[in-house]
Amino acid sequence: MIDFHSHILPCMDDGCESAEESVAVLELLYQSGVRKVMLTPHYYAEKESVDEFLLRRETSYKRLKEEINKTSLELPELSLGAEVKFFYGISQKTDVKKLCYEGTKCLLLEMPFEKWNKSVYAEVMNLQGRCGITTLIAHFNRYISLGNSFKDVVSLSSPLQLNAEVFEKKIGTGRWLKYLDTEDIVLGSDCHNMGTRKPNMDKAMRAVRNKYGEGFMHKIDNVGNMLLST
Ligand SMILES: [Fe+2]
Repeated sequence: MIDFHSHILPCMDDGCESAEESVAVLELLYQSGVRKVMLTPHYYAEKESVDEFLLRRETSYKRLKEEINKTSLELPELSLGAEVKFFYGISQKTDVKKLCYEGTKCLLLEMPFEKWNKSVYAEVMNLQGRCGITTLIAHFNRYISLGNSFKDVVSLSSPLQLNAEVFEKKIGTGRWLKYLDTEDIVLGSDCHNMGTRKPNMDKAMRAVRNKYGEGFMHKIDNVGNMLLST
């Protein structure tokens, strides 16, 4: 299983506060069956340039690799990315491509936490069309209670990243859950630390397997591998 959404890089955002904590989180993810983790710190265009962000990310990644080299633990394979917060004009910004998961044209996009207007849809369509980016909608479940319906979210024609948090609550609370297996879904822990936002991928995988069956688990794997080969 691939974890498409995490805040594990040390001292990078509101995630892990030390490389030691990052290793502990990675160990937990490995134990729950995750074999590849996408490292996706928050990118906020209003705070820094893409290049400044990439420099900070590289420094943090180096620190993490140093810590990993000290251990003999079995840990998931790592790959870099970003969780990019939507902003108006994003589709005009050519260097946003540098924030895709490394080696791919797939971008983890955090959408506005409000009802989306026509300009929001247009920006996403332009990212896909003009920029040739595959937008992966981060924790899509969170936008549904904000005036956007499941149908609105699906109309973005994007694969959807589902946060494992959904399955910590009583499964079946959202009516849209029954349509989930018709969509292209990948999972993300969105884990931040070893405290309040620990990885919970094991619970998510168990819940998905129980509700949708093994076939859907394979589909999740296939969608994930396809996204990373774009
Ligand atoms: Fe996140």
